[in-house]
Order: sequence, then structure tokens, then C-alpha cells
Amino acid sequence: MRNFKAVGQAITALFIISLSAWCYGQVELDMAPMEKAERDALYSTIQGFVGDWWNGSDLYPDPCGWTPIQGVSCDLFNGFWYVTVLNIGPIHDNSLSCAKILEFRPQLFELKHLKALSLFKCFESQHRHQVTIPNANWEKLAGSLESLEFRSNRGLIGKIPSSFGALKNLQSLVLLENGLTGKIPPDIGKLNKLKRLVLAGNHFSGHIPDIFSALGELLILDLSRNSLSGTLPLTLGSLTSLLKLDVSHNHLEGNLLKEFAYLKNLTLMDLRNNRFSGGLTLSIQEMYSLEEMVLSNNAIGGDIRTLKWENLHNLIILDLSNMGLKGEIPESISELKRLRFLGLSDNNLTGNLSPNLSTLPCLNALYVSGNNLTGELKFSVEFYGKMRTRFGAWNNPSLCYPLGVISTSHVPYGVKPCQQEIKLLKSNTTDGDVKRTFHSIASLSHTPNSFWWIFLFFLISYLGL
Ligand SMILES: *[C@@H]1O[C@H](CO)[C@@H](O)[C@H](O)[C@H]1NC(C)=O
Ligand SMILES: *[C@@H]1O[C@H](CO)[C@@H](O)[C@H](O)[C@H]1NC(C)=O
Ligand SMILES: *[C@@H]1O[C@H](CO)[C@@H](O)[C@H](O)[C@H]1NC(C)=O
Ligand SMILES: *[C@@H]1O[C@H](CO)[C@@H](O)[C@H](O)[C@H]1NC(C)=O
Ligand SMILES: *[C@@H]1O[C@H](CO)[C@@H](O)[C@H](O)[C@H]1NC(C)=O
Ligand SMILES: *[C@@H]1O[C@H](CO)[C@@H](O)[C@H](O)[C@H]1NC(C)=O
Repeated sequence: MRNFKAVGQAITALFIISLSAWCYGQVELDMAPMEKAERDALYSTIQGFVGDWWNGSDLYPDPCGWTPIQGVSCDLFNGFWYVTVLNIGPIHDNSLSCAKILEFRPQLFELKHLKALSLFKCFESQHRHQVTIPNANWEKLAGSLESLEFRSNRGLIGKIPSSFGALKNLQSLVLLENGLTGKIPPDIGKLNKLKRLVLAGNHFSGHIPDIFSALGELLILDLSRNSLSGTLPLTLGSLTSLLKLDVSHNHLEGNLLKEFAYLKNLTLMDLRNNRFSGGLTLSIQEMYSLEEMVLSNNAIGGDIRTLKWENLHNLIILDLSNMGLKGEIPESISELKRLRFLGLSDNNLTGNLSPNLSTLPCLNALYVSGNNLTGELKFSVEFYGKMRTRFGAWNNPSLCYPLGVISTSHVPYGVKPCQQEIKLLKSNTTDGDVKRTFHSIASLSHTPNSFWWIFLFFLISYLGL
């Protein structure tokens, strides 16, 4: 909007220029009124990032008027123009791009109406020229700054300054994929207007501080891809508005929180690649809004039947791979009608794979490989045709597919054909065949169909056991 204003202003100015050139044969400039200090602070701040060759007063004599700078927006306060937005980094062709050697100039903090500051792909070099975020002066921006984003700056190192805690109007703090280290400063807990806190893809370590009790407006919390350790802080339960929680790819441990039950609006929960344990907490089944739940690659353990899965009827992605889960795949998972991705690989799941899973209308990926599932796959030919390689069931030694039903092109990879009982009658049956045939019968007995139990009972009695 402010850009439009500036552009509008520029067009008006050009119009006036062309008019005056037409009428008087000379150019008159109608500059947007701006304090000299503000203009100089802007020039110097940008020069610090893009290099000394950049001479603002030459190139952009009227930065909030008829010579707008790509990435800079202005607004009017009491009849004067002030910079409100400053974006540095290669977003557009004509964006301001950073120099090899660059610095945060103190003039940055003189931009007294700055609402949004973004540095993107600025401090790129990881080894040669590294820069830390200045510690001082952030309080000067406390009244205005709402959004602070440093993204993809690998050469931006050091800690998050605790003085960020002074930025009491901050709604968005995004420090994504930089080279930052150290602990997450507890001062961030003072930023009670925060809606988005993204610290992903850095090298942060230590515990997640228990600082969330005042951050009730937070919508997005992403601490993924760091080296955070310890347990989840209990005050996460205060984040009742939260939509996305991502702490994946860290070294976090301990139980899943009972407090998760308070996160009624959460749509995404990604805890993958950590060291969580202690089984599936019952509170999870109260997170009714969840659409994506990814808990894979944790030693969570316990029985998959612990939860009433049918409560989580909004689930679209459910990934429970490699969690040490045991038990039979509950029929309630077949009631999650919105499910598109179901990952249950590399657990210790037993029993049959319910043919009802294939009735899920949106399902287009189903992975159950690396378990101890048994019996015959009972999906329709159409199901295998639809899923193709997105159905994975290999490494289930006692699972088989019925011969003849499935055309060879749709045979599930790594699953062997079922042996026919007829083999028992064959005179030349080998030892191995008997074993496999018996497996097949034994596994069939896992179906709720009591017929097989009765059959087995009679077989055993018949054999005189
Ligand atoms: C920019 O150029 C002007 C002359 O065109 C010069 O007076 C001024 O010192 C230069 N500013 C910087 C910061 O280099
Ligand atoms: C949860 O979402 C609903 C609907 O979007 C909204 O009305 C409600 O205020 C939200 N709850 C919280 C605690 O933010
Ligand atoms: C699976 O469960 C069985 C029996 O409970 C146990 O012996 C085995 O070690 C488990 N395997 C894995 C990979 O957890
Ligand atoms: C599959 O769903 C049908 C209808 O919902 C139900 O009657 C049947 O018991 C389910 N199958 C299994 C194996 O639970
Ligand atoms: C698979 O389950 C059977 C019993 O159903 C058990 O004897 C076997 O050890 C299990 N295999 C693994 C790898 O857990
Ligand atoms: C054993 O049975 C198989 C069919 O399953 C047959 O191909 C084979 O020729 C038979 N071998 C003997 C020695 O009868």
C-alpha cells in the first residue's frame, strides 16, 4: 500500500515534471518532504549493507517520492515521510543486494518509524566475513518494529541478543537458516504480541526455555533443525491460539506433554527426529484440529491402540514411522476420511492390514514396511493400481498377497505370494513349504474371523494334542 503511495507520488511528480518541462522548458522537482536526518540514516544504513559504492543521494535523491528504492516503503507522519519497511536481499531483479563485506550501521536505529526489517541472503559467506547481530540500540526501535526477519544468512553468526526482549511491539520474529548459535534467550518471552516465532535451521542449543506463558497470541512456533535438547517446556500449553508447532530435527527428549490437550487450534504438529519417549500421551486425542501429525523417528514406544484415532478426524498427514510402536493397526484409523498420507513403517506392528484402509477416499500413500504384519493383503486390484509405489509393505515376513488376484504389474514390492493350503495335500511338499503354509494359516487366524480359531482348535484336537 505504501509502495503504491510512493509510486502514485512518483507518477504525479513525473507528470508535473513533464508539464513544467512542456510549459517552461525546465525541470522543477517536487520532493516528498523528509527530515534530512531520516534520509541520511536511510542512505547510511543501506550503504552499510550493499557497499560504499552505493551513493543514495546521487541515485535516489527522493527515496520516499519520485525515486523510490526497491525494498523500501515509506509512510507519512505529521507531514513528513519516514521509512517503514526496509528489505535487503535478492528478491527482485532490481533489489538491493548485499556486499561481500557489510555491517549493521548504528544509523539503522535512527529510523524511528521502521516497522519491518528484512535481510535475505545477505551474509552468505560462512567462513570469510562473518557478522554478529548488534546487541545495543534495539530498544530505539521498540515503539515501531513489528517484523524482524533474517533469512538464509549463513554468515550471520553469534547469539540472539537478549535486547530483542525490548521490541515489545514485535509480531513476527523470523531468524530462519542463519548461522546463529547459543541458547534461546528467555527475554523472548516478553514479546507478548508475537504471532510468529521462527528460529529454524540455525545451531541453537540448550533447553527450550519455559517462556511461553505470556505468548498467548502466538500462531506459529518453529524451532526445527537446531540442536535443542532437554524436555518440552510445560508453558507450551499456554499457546492456546497456536496453529503450527514444529520442533523437528533436534535432540529433544522426555514425554509428550499432557498440556498438548490445550492446543485445540493446532493444525500442524511436527516432532519428528528427536528422542521423545514414554508412549502416545492421551492428550493427543484431544487435539481435534490437527491436520498434520508427524512423530516419526522417536523412541516413543507403546501401543498404537492407546489413542482414539477417530477423534482426530481432520488428519490429512499421519506419520508414525520408526517409533517403536506395537499392537495391531486399529480399525479407527480407517475412519480418518481426510487422510492422504499414512506412514506406519519400521515399527513393531502386528496383525492384519484392514482392507478398509483402501476405502479412505483421499489416501494416496500408505507405508507399513518393516513391521510384523501377518496374513493376506485384501486390497482390491484398483487400490494397488492407484497407489503403485506409494504403497510400501516390504519387510513384513509373514505378510503375503493372494496369487492370481493381482496382475503382475501391481504386485506389491517385497511382498511374497501367499502359499495355497492345497500344497498340504501335495506329496512332494518340502519342509520349507510346510513351514510357510503353516505361517499362512497361522497368520490368517489373526483375522477377527473366529472361523480360523475354531479350525485351528479342531486341527489341534485332531492331531491329538
Ligand atoms: C555521494 O555523492 C556526492 C556527490 O555526487 C558526494 O558529495 C557525497 O559525499 C557522496 N556520498 C557518499 C556517502 O559517498
Ligand atoms: C481457535 O480458532 C477459532 C476459529 O478459527 C477461533 O474462533 C478461536 O478464537 C481460536 N481459539 C483461540 C484460543 O485462539
Ligand atoms: C517387537 O516385539 C517383539 C515381541 O514383543 C520383541 O521381541 C522385538 O524385539 C520387538 N522388535 C522391535 C524391533 O522392537
Ligand atoms: C470395515 O468396515 C465395515 C463397515 O464400516 C465394518 O463392518 C467392518 O467390520 C470393517 N472391517 C474390519 C476388518 O474391521
Ligand atoms: C513377529 O511376531 C511373531 C509372533 O506373531 C513373533 O514370534 C516374532 O518374533 C515377531 N518378529 C519380530 C521381528 O518381532
Ligand atoms: C512338486 O510340485 C511342483 C509344483 O508345486 C512341481 O512343479 C514339481 O515338478 C513337483 N516335484 C516332484 C518331484 O514331483
